[in-house]
Amino acid sequence: MLSLAGVHAYYGDSHILHGVSLELAQGEVVCLLGRNGAGKTTTALTIMGYLAPRPGKVTFEGKDISGWAPHKVSRAGIGFVPQERGIFPSLTVKENLTTMARHGDKGRWTLDAVYQLFPRLQERERNLGFQLSGGEQQMLSIARALMLNPTLLLLDEPSEGLAPLIVREIMEVLRTLKREGLAVLLIEQNLRAALDLGDRHYVLSKGEVCFKGTSSDLEGNEQVLRDYLSV
Ligand SMILES: Nc1ncnc2c1ncn2[C@@H]1O[C@H](COP(=O)(O)OP(=O)(O)OP(=O)(O)O)[C@@H](O)[C@H]1O
Ligand SMILES: [Mg+2]
Repeated sequence: MLSLAGVHAYYGDSHILHGVSLELAQGEVVCLLGRNGAGKTTTALTIMGYLAPRPGKVTFEGKDISGWAPHKVSRAGIGFVPQERGIFPSLTVKENLTTMARHGDKGRWTLDAVYQLFPRLQERERNLGFQLSGGEQQMLSIARALMLNPTLLLLDEPSEGLAPLIVREIMEVLRTLKREGLAVLLIEQNLRAALDLGDRHYVLSKGEVCFKGTSSDLEGNEQVLRDYLSV
């Protein structure tokens, strides 16, 4: 359903991605791993249309979405949970959720449904974005992406900077979404979480894919674990 073919990306003159190719099928959870600065966020921004591939091609559900504007990419069905979470600090939890709604009450994800998934958000409904803890902000960011009723969820390091208990809670939610058949592209540095949840994995190094394989391929590849994931 998502495919990147020979994607290069630049910030100004800095050449960051050097021909990244990646495939994700319906219902799959695919992880994108790699050290700090490997190009994971740059890959996410290129999928979402914040950066244009040059050259290279991004295809989603049969459509060439290379160079589409971000709002158009999300409307096509990719829910994005950015690394910096991107919630509106001066809007309430409820407002953050309802401004993103798509399909009204007809889609799988309504306000009630996301509150059921994250009861904490309902308790905090009237709080402003900036009043939330880091974990609650991350939940809000995920819930907000779901309100678009996406067919693919793209998360950039959702466990970063969070306490282990909250990480477990968020991973449990992702497991629920996987069980429902939602496709997920998960950028992670938490290898344990990635191995638990992911069907397949890509490892990036210096803007290139240096490994791809299943969880057991990755667990068995000491060289990749040592050289590219500092395990
Ligand atoms: N706005 C920018 N302008 C110029 N260079 C940038 C910019 N953003 C990132 N870079 C560079 O691009 C490279 C890849 O960065 P990227 O953010 O994609 O890495 P990452 O794998 O997401 O790392 P992290 O795990 O720390 O989030 C790094 O060398 C980084 O310094
Ligand atoms: Mg990043």
